[in-house]
Amino acid sequence: MHVYIEDLAKHVGETVTLKGWLYNSRGSKKMQFLEVRDGTGIVQAIVKKADDEAMFETAKTLGQESSMIVDGEVKAHPKREGVFEIAATSLTVVGHAADYPITPKDHGVEFLMDHRHLWLRSKRQNAILRIRAEIVSAIRDYFDDRGFTLVDAPIFTPNACEGTSTLFETEYHGDTAYLTQSGQLYMEAAAAAFGKAYCFGPTFRAEKSKTRRHLAEFWMVEPEVAFMDLAGDLDLAEDFICHIVQRVLANRRQELATLERDISKLESIQKPFPRIRYEEAVQVLRDSGKDFTFGDDFGGEDETIIANHFDKPVMITHYPMSLKAFYFKRDPEDPSRALCVDVIAPEGYGEVIGGGEREYDLDVLEAAIKEHELPMDAFSWYRDVRKYGAFPHAGFGLGVERTVAWMCGIKHVRETIPFPRMLNRLSP
Ligand code: 4AD
Ligand code: MG
Repeated sequence: MHVYIEDLAKHVGETVTLKGWLYNSRGSKKMQFLEVRDGTGIVQAIVKKADDEAMFETAKTLGQESSMIVDGEVKAHPKREGVFEIAATSLTVVGHAADYPITPKDHGVEFLMDHRHLWLRSKRQNAILRIRAEIVSAIRDYFDDRGFTLVDAPIFTPNACEGTSTLFETEYHGDTAYLTQSGQLYMEAAAAAFGKAYCFGPTFRAEKSKTRRHLAEFWMVEPEVAFMDLAGDLDLAEDFICHIVQRVLANRRQELATLERDISKLESIQKPFPRIRYEEAVQVLRDSGKDFTFGDDFGGEDETIIANHFDKPVMITHYPMSLKAFYFKRDPEDPSRALCVDVIAPEGYGEVIGGGEREYDLDVLEAAIKEHELPMDAFSWYRDVRKYGAFPHAGFGLGVERTVAWMCGIKHVRETIPFPRMLNRLSP
């Protein structure tokens, strides 16, 4: 019977069939130890010369990543709990592999990135992407269980949502289209239709600099809620992040262990998160000895300094309007400030959430579109959302890759997505 390695515990003493690939192999004159992986785990199959000489010869010559079918009895490891072995009785090679490029020795990261399609088979990459899948599932469940309607935003769009400097432009049947930077504008229309809506998909930004936190293609989840204010937005973001962390801790312990993640850092992610205003964050930087100009945006390094002041995500609100996109609502108490929030993850993983209240006064919005030198016509549909029943609303976007990097404890986002797209990388 074909059994997956993750289910071996249920089959101790039985003879089963494994289907997988050779992860590693070592041997002596009398025995060959094959580490077999099938995507759900790795198990050692022991091939004894005394049992079957032909099988032993086959096992000895098998190259790394050859695919095979192994029959054998499942035995519990005599000393290590939860570890099993297979006493092989038959071995069939399905596809020989020779000179697999990724060997157990150390490789440079560019080499590994060039072989990303193969690198995904390794233990660490496997653990990271399983955690990613858990996070994606936690995200969907969170909103689905709370009355949000999933509304898919388009990928081709006539609108710049997050400034014009990072747009990917493409020809569109004689017109110009952009790859979406964010589904937010569409979620605002959806909030009027559904009350609570969210979109979840890939978004695109032609980031011109190489950093460890920026991809050209990344996944973002964007909830938008009618009649919610900034305080409600902060509560939602906080609760949502706690939900994701709890799910990863509950279901992906083994993968976190593979990555040697310090779990205590994740266990301390509990409500409430610190909430500070832009000027307080500036003060943190200045207190740390940084010569920071009021009105500037925080760079990656600044975010890390601020984050290191807290052991939980920190929610920074009320940035100067000049730093923010055209759609933000101004603070009525100080119109130079936006009713916005950036959530900065602890331990230096950077901004994981950006969001806030949206301007819903048509005249003010149109003035902002002009001020940002955006084409009024392209936003005519967006202005309709104000023309026909304007309503206060707020939402945010959470970047999946930075969240995965944070949960996994890995510094660079390139390993958090199966096939990263970056400034200098379109392949594989
Ligand atoms: O702060 P951002 O630009 O916000 C928006 O796009 C809003 N329209 C979202 C909304 O309110 N509905 O991006 C949101 C998040 C960031 O906090 C970050 O986690 C992630 O998206 N992000 C990136 N992740 C990887 N690579 C990039 N180039 C990213 N740019 C933003
Ligand atoms: Mg942002």
